[in-house]
Amino acid sequence: MNKKIKKVGVIGAGVMGATIAAQLANVGLETILLDIVLPQLSDEDKKKGLTPESKEFRNKLAANGVQGALKSRPASFYLPENARLITIGNMEDDLNRLKEVQWIIEVVVERLDIKKIVFEKLETVMTPGTLITSNTSGIPAKAMLEGRSENFRKHFAITHFFNPPRYMKLLELVPGPDTLPEVVDTLVEVCEKIVGKGIVYAKDTPNFVANRIGIYSMLCVVRTMMDLGLTIEAVDELTGPVVGNPKSASFRTVDLVGLDTIIHVANNVYEGAKNDEKRDMFQMPEFIKQMVEKKLLGQKTKQGFYKRVEENGKKITLSIDYKTLEYKPQQKVKFASLEAAKSIPGTAGKMKALYFADDLAGQFTFRTMSDVLLYSAMRIPEIADDIVNVDNAMKWGFARKMGPFEAWDAIGVEASVAKMKKAGLEIPGWVQEMLARGNTSFYKREAGALFFYDIPSKGYKPVPVKPGVILLPSLKDRQKLIAGNKGASLVDIGDGVACLEFHSKMNALGDDIINMVLKSADIVSKDFVGMVIANHGENFSVGANLALVLFTAQEEEWDDLEWAIKTFQDSFMKLK
Ligand SMILES: NC(=O)c1ccc[n+]([C@@H]2O[C@H](COP(=O)([O-])OP(=O)(O)OC[C@H]3O[C@@H](n4cnc5c(N)ncnc54)[C@H](O)[C@@H]3O)[C@@H](O)[C@H]2O)c1
Repeated sequence: MNKKIKKVGVIGAGVMGATIAAQLANVGLETILLDIVLPQLSDEDKKKGLTPESKEFRNKLAANGVQGALKSRPASFYLPENARLITIGNMEDDLNRLKEVQWIIEVVVERLDIKKIVFEKLETVMTPGTLITSNTSGIPAKAMLEGRSENFRKHFAITHFFNPPRYMKLLELVPGPDTLPEVVDTLVEVCEKIVGKGIVYAKDTPNFVANRIGIYSMLCVVRTMMDLGLTIEAVDELTGPVVGNPKSASFRTVDLVGLDTIIHVANNVYEGAKNDEKRDMFQMPEFIKQMVEKKLLGQKTKQGFYKRVEENGKKITLSIDYKTLEYKPQQKVKFASLEAAKSIPGTAGKMKALYFADDLAGQFTFRTMSDVLLYSAMRIPEIADDIVNVDNAMKWGFARKMGPFEAWDAIGVEASVAKMKKAGLEIPGWVQEMLARGNTSFYKREAGALFFYDIPSKGYKPVPVKPGVILLPSLKDRQKLIAGNKGASLVDIGDGVACLEFHSKMNALGDDIINMVLKSADIVSKDFVGMVIANHGENFSVGANLALVLFTAQEEEWDDLEWAIKTFQDSFMKLK
């Protein structure tokens, strides 16, 4: 097929539809954004003199969608003028315009009956060969395709963008039962190379990969918290950056997403995955049901697991006591193992220390992590074919530093499995077999390449690397390092080009980096045609090493400081 996608139709201009259209416009794709015509004029419309025939009234929802995306924070558009690539319209007057597009994305409300009606309408105008995808969060493709033609079924897939689409790298791609392989190839090409997403190949199962494991993980955290009598704030400390998760950790994330949405997603699994051995976990604990009844849903109702209040003229954040549903001042979180873990460098070391600790924090980490690792292992090949897709889904969809199998390697597979067995946990057969064959990790690095344990072949396979993607650590393993010190390296990336990579703490610019900038400029001007400065760090660079500047200032070493600033400037001028 290798269809060129130039114009896209987006159906539904709500939270996701409008921001998906914005991302398509950001990457230069023209978009037609359609929503329904509202049933009647509002008082405001009447005051403006609009009639049921007025375009302004008929396109109101699509227009509101674009306006919402323009105002959204963080910004949905790279530049506000990108909105010019979006043409708005409605499902009654503009359906025929979809003949101009090569790809239609359905992003209407999460209701099977409505999605089916929309697909029936779309089928009347789609030109043969147009790709059609749904952004559903969990409705099975099989159900949405009932009554559709062979042509429609062959060109249909689910493309599940994460919110907000500009920022979340994950896109779960779920082919339907009859999707043509070339349709999948075209979607991969456009979503990866043009739209800039990371593709996870998922199966047509409830909630696909990231939300299936993500929601299970959330429920494990809740139940273990209740068993061990921990507070909301203690759990957020234990499930945040210390174990490689974002600062919003567990409960701040739920407050952002909304407890009602979490329940909806959990219900999807409970209803749709009848053979899941952990199905009962997806039923909500009683206190959560009561929180929903009391509308303690999170940010959207201004109170959830946390609540901001004003006390003596100062804003403070209270946390909920799940035994009484009353809000209380947060308690100081103090565990010896947590304090010790925080001082260990790197996420892997912190995670391992907490997992094997004996205090309450250790017990919590052991129980929640073990549960999620075992659950993830049990879900292959049901939700995805391999561990790489599961790990990518959890990293790209939830901004975690490591996916479950990478985390399992970090804590040590043999030692953790021994601890799990001692605690009476059942280890999935394929993991036991992997260990019995002497394979002690899910990933391994050999000759500069990364390999993953492939369950069907019971051996390791290379982790696919996209053509055109350069991974600096693997080049360094392959003796491509030209020069380097503790803060930076110069790596030969081929075609006569070298890459200067920073790798100091947070890539702060200090002596080491400055020396390497000077050295690299000399080397590259002699032996290379060009140089790029890039790295895999979380921050490209946080800027100058201010601790060093402060220290020099405190010592009143003004000459040293002046000399350092001059060297800094000279080194970067040398790159010109
Ligand atoms: N909100 C999220 O975080 C999120 C994340 C990933 C996927 N999704 C999925 O994306 C889809 C849309 O979710 P949302 O959050 O944007 O919902 P939303 O309620 O914000 O928007 C839905 C839009 O669909 C429109 N609509 C309803 N019926 C229609 C029809 N017949 N024709 C055209 N438009 C119609 C509505 O007017 C509304 O503007 C759902 O399938 C949802 O599960 C949502």
